[in-house]
Amino acid sequence: PKYWLIVPAAGIGKRMQSDVPKQYLKLDNRFILDITLSRLLDHADFSGCMVPLSAQDQWWPDSAAAGDDRVQTCTGGSERADSVLSALHALEGQADENDWVLVHDAARPCIHPDDLANLIDTLSSHPVGGLLATPVADTLKQAGGGAIPEVEATVDRSRLWRALTPQMFRIGALKMALENSLAERQPITDESSAMEFSGNMPVLVEGRPDNLKITVPADLALAGFVLSRL
Ligand code: CTP
Ligand code: MG
Repeated sequence: PKYWLIVPAAGIGKRMQSDVPKQYLKLDNRFILDITLSRLLDHADFSGCMVPLSAQDQWWPDSAAAGDDRVQTCTGGSERADSVLSALHALEGQADENDWVLVHDAARPCIHPDDLANLIDTLSSHPVGGLLATPVADTLKQAGGGAIPEVEATVDRSRLWRALTPQMFRIGALKMALENSLAERQPITDESSAMEFSGNMPVLVEGRPDNLKITVPADLALAGFVLSRL
């Protein structure tokens, strides 16, 4: 089977509190989105790459990726799952249902090529697929329901992982899982949760904890630091 790439970039970056969506903020004078795309496309052999963009996007034409013939775009949706589903539909006719697709957040530019290779190697012979993830390092507290957060319990973290991306699944199975989850109004924040809802057990492939998602303003400098050391 072949390998396809989807890089959802249709978000507005509300938590980043910037005028420009975070995927178009710059590090080292390059769009975050361009850094993410080149780190993925230069280190694995994808048959094609689909980038869902917001209908209001006005920055894509200024990206380096806009002139890259490996990259196609489509219109995203109101939630991340809608954007990914729209990209899966846009790949119909090019990709086979049994091909693999890797979905990676535009806002995660620090993806390490070793993690990308390890994810693909580990899952290529697996029936379902899985995701990069990293074991939780901090002690976890569960808050009670009161106005002031008070510790109700300390949660056992030994089996808890943080979900990262890429997440790698078969195209046909992922499309069905996302459609099913959206129809059932399940809260879906990643591809794995849609696959889980459809009865699958995705594999957790341990990845580097510095594969961070730029979410709040302080993350930008952090990502710049990580990138300077990779
Ligand atoms: N994304 C998308 N379509 C959406 C929402 C999000 O393609 N409707 C993309 C974002 O562009 C981002 C990735 O999904 O690359 C991860 O989402 P997140 O970090 O939540 O980004 P935003 O939704 O843009 O940020 P926020 O939640 O703070 O508004
Ligand atoms: Mg979001």
